[in-house]
Amino acid sequence: MAGSVNRQILLQSRPQGAPGLDNFELIETPIPEPGEGEVLMHTLYLSLDPYMRGRMSAAKSYAKPATIGQPMVGGTVGEIVKSRNPKYAAGDIVLGYGGWQEYALSNGAGLRKLDPKAAPVSTALGVLGMPGMTAYVGLTEIGQPKPGETVVVAAASGAVGSVVGQIAKIKGARAIGIAGGAEKCRFVAQELGFDACVDHRAPDLAQQLEAACPKGIDVYFENVGGAVQQAAWPLLNDFARVPVCGLIAQYNATNPMPGPDMFSVLRKRLLLRGFIVSDFAAKQGDFLRDVGEWVRTGRLKYREDIVDGLEHAPASFLGLLAGKNFGKMLVRVATCA
Ligand SMILES: NC(=O)c1ccc[n+]([C@@H]2O[C@H](COP(=O)([O-])OP(=O)(O)OC[C@H]3O[C@@H](n4cnc5c(N)ncnc54)[C@H](OP(=O)(O)O)[C@@H]3O)[C@@H](O)[C@H]2O)c1
Repeated sequence: MAGSVNRQILLQSRPQGAPGLDNFELIETPIPEPGEGEVLMHTLYLSLDPYMRGRMSAAKSYAKPATIGQPMVGGTVGEIVKSRNPKYAAGDIVLGYGGWQEYALSNGAGLRKLDPKAAPVSTALGVLGMPGMTAYVGLTEIGQPKPGETVVVAAASGAVGSVVGQIAKIKGARAIGIAGGAEKCRFVAQELGFDACVDHRAPDLAQQLEAACPKGIDVYFENVGGAVQQAAWPLLNDFARVPVCGLIAQYNATNPMPGPDMFSVLRKRLLLRGFIVSDFAAKQGDFLRDVGEWVRTGRLKYREDIVDGLEHAPASFLGLLAGKNFGKMLVRVATCA
């Protein structure tokens, strides 16, 4: 074991807007000793992930914020250097959640042993870990790309986006990446095999994206929000799917973006799906049976706002747009003789 000091990076304060160095503090503490049932891990890899911006904040989220004065949280691959847990021995390489520090204790819960012969152990934090899994489930379970469809993903050279586009290709879809700068775009298109990649810093991002998606977008895998989302949104085809995975362009925002609060969509795992009633024409029989019965038996009440005379139709219509109707707006054009 190298040295006797454990260097830790603590969350020192919570940022307002973009985080700064002053939000962190590096300290040195003694390397801890494992208690009964515990292991001591020497961190080999610490994963840095966009979600950590959220952990720095005390804003309500799907996970608890990191604690001020404690090491920042984070996924790690580490080597067990001391074990008082029968399931692990010194020398084992494990995936864990050791945080931003050189040494971390664990009681074994949530650890997963890695086989260094099977794959480089760093991949357990990337393509074979949380980001890869995110891409896989988001695309196959929610995006559900079909052969010939167009899948668009931003942060396309990154941990999640790179996997999204490549799985899209495997599924027979067209994959269009969006990334920051020519070099990333070249990598995405030429090395990862996406069909095209657009630079989100280009002033004509929207036009370039449209040109890259001549048949529109069937799956927009939302990784960033912001300007990219605004460029992608008008290109969505009927029945397009939008797995809302991340909004990194907005993580430092101090004011909400105009439009629906996409953070709620993400945090509360909302499912947004538009529909037109005719999509469900096959359900008409069920509808008439159930609602007809409820109206007949008074379980379901209704109100009508009836205006007499066709000449009142335009004003009534404008009134309806202004909320002046009270109940189902109807024009009585004639009465029975
Ligand atoms: N829902 C989940 O469970 C889950 C799990 C993992 C990750 N995520 C989300 O997935 C997204 C990607 O995560 P990752 O781990 O794969 O990160 P990553 O792509 O490896 O790294 C982040 C990338 O985001 C891009 N980016 C940053 N600011 C941007 C902006 N203003 N506009 C456009 N792009 C911007 C940058 O790439 P460019 O230089 O190409 O712009 C940056 O390299 C993040 O939003 C993350 O929060 C969600």
